[in-house]
Amino acid sequence: MPKTAEAFAPAKINLCLHVTGRREDGYHLLDSLVVFADVGDRITATLADSMSLRVDGPMAGSVPVGPDNLVLRAATLFEPPIDAAITLTKNLPAAAGVGGGSSDAAACLRALSELSGRALPGPDRLLGLGADVPACVAAEPLRMQGIGEKITPWPSLPPLWVVLVNPRVLVSTPAVFKRLERRDNPPMQIPAEDAGIDTFVQWLAVQRNDMQSAACQIEPVITDVLTALSKTPGCALARMSGSGATCFGLFYDAKSAEQAQATIASKNGGWWCQSAAILK
Ligand code: C5P
Repeated sequence: MPKTAEAFAPAKINLCLHVTGRREDGYHLLDSLVVFADVGDRITATLADSMSLRVDGPMAGSVPVGPDNLVLRAATLFEPPIDAAITLTKNLPAAAGVGGGSSDAAACLRALSELSGRALPGPDRLLGLGADVPACVAAEPLRMQGIGEKITPWPSLPPLWVVLVNPRVLVSTPAVFKRLERRDNPPMQIPAEDAGIDTFVQWLAVQRNDMQSAACQIEPVITDVLTALSKTPGCALARMSGSGATCFGLFYDAKSAEQAQATIASKNGGWWCQSAAILK
């Protein structure tokens, strides 16, 4: 039997995302609390004589299957290459601010590393795939700084649930960066380590996503998503993730999140809505 490995590619959520500066090469300096949800894509990899990628799942149509796919680009980071037949089950919307491609790439690296017994590529090579890839390889609550390369584990997170809502518009990350009015915003403040859930959410409410207003200017429907989420009973906070268009509503329990998902989905047929627990 050929050896097979499976890896989960969880949705990435930027609970806050501060743009604090810009490097000479044009890349932006970020300060973000990044968490992961118990919904996501899945990678299955089987050792084979050549490299191949098959994509299935509800969002399969939204990603390329050719060499541009981040999963195949990730596989090329191993030297010598590891040939495998890879299946990507795509459940998350692509180019949506929830790390789809980066999380898929990270899961592919984990699966190939398990199959081959080889170490994961180093941080510089991961960053070359995308700014979110080092965070997605860590796949635990963390503070992300620099342009995405500086990762610090986040010590404690209260139990939280989210509803992820994507209005099915594609937002270009460089276009959002380009439209920013300020690039020198203050960094995150750091909450007390033993903050209870209310204190944590109050703290989070005064942090920001500095890309949100630029993304809303490009795609005003994002404002409608944020309004729909914040009007839902039990929603403690509504904010955009990454450069959009996916937004999250934060909830204190699974039932409220599931009810909110059902309510928003029933009123907005074309939107992608998904409730999930935040992984600790
Ligand atoms: O690395 P990723 O594919 O997510 O980035 C997409 C684009 O967003 C980059 O090519 C760059 O133009 C911009 N970007 C940036 N600063 C970052 C990350 C991305 O300006 N820290």
